[in-house]
Amino acid sequence: MTNAQKWVTVFLGLFLLLFILGRATKEEEVFDDDYDYYDDSPAQINNEDGLSLINKTGCISCHGADLKGTNLGPSLYSAKEYWTRKQLIAYLRNPSSYDGDERFEAYKAKYKSLMPSYDNIDIEQLGIIADYILSLEEE
Ligand code: HEC
Repeated sequence: MTNAQKWVTVFLGLFLLLFILGRATKEEEVFDDDYDYYDDSPAQINNEDGLSLINKTGCISCHGADLKGTNLGPSLYSAKEYWTRKQLIAYLRNPSSYDGDERFEAYKAKYKSLMPSYDNIDIEQLGIIADYILSLEEE
């Protein structure tokens, strides 16, 4: 082997080593969130917590204490027909970015108030609120 060939071999070896090390450390990356609240699966929390958050946040002032709607906001009982958990969380964080369909056009005409954005609320809590809304069943 010439000197040049030796150097090339050494460099190739180093690159390979760094590459393997890079892969290994990537796989070891740990997520400290034990639950991904942006996930589509519901949080393991009972509905009482969802309702108390909804009360605390003031959703009921427009959507009604029974969440069946007032003249300031629609009923939330049909939300599960239209939203997945993920979409609902995204919507609550930024309702004005939602590209309205006919349903939302009708809401705009019917309600003078607008749905406020709740991006100041912890995403974990929005997940709990979303779970509650998606669990509402008409009796
Ligand atoms: C100031 C009144 C007001 C408050 C407070 C409010 N909303 Fe709304 N919300 C509305 C209005 C009005 C709409 C109809 C859409 C629009 O016009 O933006 C709406 C729409 C919605 C929708 C979509 C309904 C559908 O049919 O898809 C959901 C879900 C929702 N709100 C949940 C909430 C939650 C949860 C809270 C509390 C964290 C909340 N809202 C607080 C007024 C309000």
